[in-house]
Amino acid sequence: SRSYPITGAHQTGISTPAQDRLHFATFDLLTEDRDDVVELLRTWTAAADRMMRGLPAGELGPSSGPYDAPPDDTGETEDLDASHLTITFGFGPSFFEGADGAARFGLDGRKPALLADLPHFPADALEDARCGGDIAVQACADDPQVAVHAIRNLARLAFGTASVRWSQLGYGRTSTTSTSQSTPRNLFGFKDGTANIKAEEPAALEDHVWVQPEDSASDPGAAWLAGGSYLVARRIRMTIETWDRSSLREQETITGRTKGSGAPLSGGDEHTEPDFTVTGRGDVPLIDPASHVALAHPSANGGARMLRRGYNYTDGSDGLGRLDAGLFFLCYVRDPATQYIPLQNTLARDDLLSEYLRHTGSGLWAVPPGLPAGSTTGGTDGA
Ligand code: HEM
Repeated sequence: SRSYPITGAHQTGISTPAQDRLHFATFDLLTEDRDDVVELLRTWTAAADRMMRGLPAGELGPSSGPYDAPPDDTGETEDLDASHLTITFGFGPSFFEGADGAARFGLDGRKPALLADLPHFPADALEDARCGGDIAVQACADDPQVAVHAIRNLARLAFGTASVRWSQLGYGRTSTTSTSQSTPRNLFGFKDGTANIKAEEPAALEDHVWVQPEDSASDPGAAWLAGGSYLVARRIRMTIETWDRSSLREQETITGRTKGSGAPLSGGDEHTEPDFTVTGRGDVPLIDPASHVALAHPSANGGARMLRRGYNYTDGSDGLGRLDAGLFFLCYVRDPATQYIPLQNTLARDDLLSEYLRHTGSGLWAVPPGLPAGSTTGGTDGA
């Protein structure tokens, strides 16, 4: 039936096979009243549960409610199925704490220490209107209309309590999260997701993606997050026109892999491990030490890995005739401080690829574990 249940040990939309389309939105709460937030999360959970099953957001549906009231579903998915819709919720630092540092909604002591605003990275070009948000909602589906419908109906249900801060559409998943999937390509034309953590690697998911119960020993505020994860979003604009004028040699050197098969430049096929010790003529390493793959590889990062789940985006052109296009980078990590942050610092400073990238949007959210069976009208915040 192309649908996923909303209940389970983990939220869907993380190790679930990456769907083709994304609508990602962040919301700011318009209330300081805890009861309003609890009510919103209950309403959202019930609607998400229904939409993930391919049903309208509300019980009456788009065309059979009271004639003088707005329908409880907007209707554009009436003849579509669930299309593998997943709706994944996360809570940002600003959900827990106001700008003055005071706890919001009575959530004293519930903010994980690791849930801090990301630091400024070299060459960041962030636009405030594409950053942060109290709550992030990642809707993924194999049909764009289904993903957009999900965000639209959640926004409608939040009217008066929360409003959309920013949102991003994505297409053409740039990662595989399951060995059952072939590796797609990003807008630079390279296979993306080859060395990603896959659903078929349960031990790697526990080590690198899911927050573990013992993690709260050093971070008591994260006790409720066991079985959850941290989500990093980065809207990375690619300077497409400049890239398209660079030679194939340069493109492959920058990436560290071939453009055709995605094999590492040290040899083999797509799934051969890169060997950074292999040298060619003049003892020059076949994989440039400043290439993306050399710098992002776990061997250069104390073994750190991450589950990448990004999408290509194209938001038309920028008024100067250049595509506003790139990678909406999404990754899930157990610990942003040892996984995402140091790697992003290294890449921003040393990666040959950086010359072709501009990070324009950003955010970090704590993503609670899944809902226990039979609890679909419960809150999703676990707090
Ligand atoms: C690997 C492209 C941004 C982390 C790769 C690969 C490509 C690629 C082509 C090799 C295939 C694969 O294993 O997936 C890009 C592009 C980016 C981008 C075009 C920006 C537009 C980032 C960022 C991070 C990152 C921001 C994290 C801070 C990684 C990691 C790997 C990887 C961890 C796997 C390395 C390995 O284990 O071999 N990326 N990437 N990438 N990338 Fe990126």
